[in-house]
Amino acid sequence: MSASIAITSTHLRPVDMRKDLPGIADLIEICFASTMDADGREYVRQIRRMALEMRGLGISLGSVRRFSVPIQGYVWLENNRIVGNLTLIPYFKGGKVVYMIANVAVHPEFRRRGIARQMTQQGMNHARDHGAAATWLQVREDNHEASQLYLSLGFIERARRTTWTFDPSAQPAAPMLPQVTIRRRTANDWHFQRRWLLEIYPPEISWNLPFNVDRLRPGFWREFLRWMNGERQEAWSAWLADRYLGAAVWEPGNVITDVIWLATNPLEEDLAAQALLAYSHRVLSPRRPVTINFPAGFAAKGIQSAGFRAHNT
Ligand SMILES: CC(C)(COP(=O)(O)OP(=O)(O)OC[C@H]1O[C@@H](n2cnc3c(N)ncnc32)[C@H](O)[C@@H]1OP(=O)(O)O)[C@@H](O)C(=O)NCCC(=O)NCCS
Repeated sequence: MSASIAITSTHLRPVDMRKDLPGIADLIEICFASTMDADGREYVRQIRRMALEMRGLGISLGSVRRFSVPIQGYVWLENNRIVGNLTLIPYFKGGKVVYMIANVAVHPEFRRRGIARQMTQQGMNHARDHGAAATWLQVREDNHEASQLYLSLGFIERARRTTWTFDPSAQPAAPMLPQVTIRRRTANDWHFQRRWLLEIYPPEISWNLPFNVDRLRPGFWREFLRWMNGERQEAWSAWLADRYLGAAVWEPGNVITDVIWLATNPLEEDLAAQALLAYSHRVLSPRRPVTINFPAGFAAKGIQSAGFRAHNT
């Protein structure tokens, strides 16, 4: 994080949940129209729903916490209209507070005037003033304008990930690989599955994902606990003769898409990914779309061959 600069603009103020949500939803829709996926659209719907509920029922801010709407952040106003937004999401990471900056957006008619720079600087100041050990954000690889802005403010790239998506109801099944055997994942597979999971989802990035390696562990008691809690999970392993290629675990996601956690043998990552994911269609169909978060550039051929599309990097 760079040194703090005091922002004194009269256009910039903290988000007021009681009146800003419709303006923020409009702005996010305009600014992210070309890159928004089903979860993004659901997120905007959630903001609008929340705005209606707050207006109609006079909901208190305490009850807002169960929604992932922009509770904290800043807006930029021109003639009382919201033309800029930045959301702040505090997390606990390894016992420390970190802040995530999200939804940085400036209306197209007001760009290149330094609005995003001032909002981001303000977000960084806010995080620092609230004891943040670090401030994180995510930016698409092809978003050069935003990357330029964040680099100039002192952000450093820590990881490059690709989000892959597959819609089992819309895309045909990929052919299975005859040389690979797919079996139910067993406790014996866990040693390597766990090791590869921790390499693919290291703590540096997994704190910001719904990832918990212990939740993916096989075993009777784990499954019993999952059953007791009403949690669903499917796990399968791939073998090339007696060589273990890896495992895939499917879990329901929070919004529109579900998730697959992929643990691939680093010596056979394309083959493993293709075999495991081609099988996923048989397990998941006709379920909801599924996403995979994976290190950019790894197993890309295998994931693509199984019918997944790169949504963003
Ligand atoms: C990215 C975005 C927020 C920038 O907003 P902005 O108010 O126009 O940005 P600023 O005027 O504060 O510019 C800050 C820096 O960003 C970079 N930048 C912004 N727009 C740029 C462009 N069109 N071309 C090149 N660099 C650009 C420059 O480094 C600029 O610094 P400089 O003016 O000193 O050269 C805006 O373009 C936007 O809303 N885009 C769509 C949503 C989005 O992609 N958000 C980022 C998500 S991570």
